[in-house]
Amino acid sequence: MIDYKKIKEAADYIREKAGFKPKIGLILGSGLGFMADEIENPIVIDYKDIPNFPVSTVFGHEGKLVMGKLFGKDVVAMKGRFHTYEGYEPSIVVFPVYVMKEIGVERLLITNAAGGINKGFEPGDVILIKDIISLLSFRNPLRGPNDERLGPRFPDMSHPFDREWMNKLKEKMNLKEGTYIWTLGPSYETPAEIRAFDKLGADLVGMSTAPEVIAANHIGLKVLGLSCVTNMAAGILDVPLSHEDVMRVADKVKGKFAKIVRVALEVV
Ligand code: HPA
Repeated sequence: MIDYKKIKEAADYIREKAGFKPKIGLILGSGLGFMADEIENPIVIDYKDIPNFPVSTVFGHEGKLVMGKLFGKDVVAMKGRFHTYEGYEPSIVVFPVYVMKEIGVERLLITNAAGGINKGFEPGDVILIKDIISLLSFRNPLRGPNDERLGPRFPDMSHPFDREWMNKLKEKMNLKEGTYIWTLGPSYETPAEIRAFDKLGADLVGMSTAPEVIAANHIGLKVLGLSCVTNMAAGILDVPLSHEDVMRVADKVKGKFAKIVRVALEVV
């Protein structure tokens, strides 16, 4: 359950440490945490020091909030996020999204590493996420009592990503778009699962992002999503999938990715 009192305690701690109100939140996926190192005069807060904050365990993910200016904007970045495959309940995974809103965040830029299902994609592509499919996880982060102070019982999900923000970005650069399907992980998908996801209309597959997008819509944050295609999904090419390859490709894409994030921040 999403507990307002716990959110407030975490937010009070961060507000006091930061001394300013970031307007944009960034959630940085596998291998993409380097963006947080670009933040000027950063205030860095370890997750473990924030009351009620979960702590990240996966290799390649750090557990820090980094706050400061990025490309001229006041931001708070999560370097390291939480996943269901680590054992967290979806309601815990989304806790930081509520905390961001409580400290003044209005927009959320959310990124991930993903497998490409759409054969028009290739490893190294950065894709604008236009929609999500979360229901196959059978885990909704909002399940349980709803606190009306946070948002409505039945949030509208007709526009999970902010159309205006997407359009502004697309005016500046050519980006492929896709629908992202969320799996709980940690095993990668089987080829049969990927064929099924393809038929359902998914272009990308990954183990994150969807819960945070649902939470962000619950509380009225404007969301932009970017996926770094680190591999083609299982069975599309006959090669084994490994976390090392995912991290290696994410690392190679750093320059391109940073440029897109810069433009995404500059247009709002
Ligand atoms: N599947 C799920 N999650 C992923 C993948 C994938 O192929 N690549 C990066 N994250």
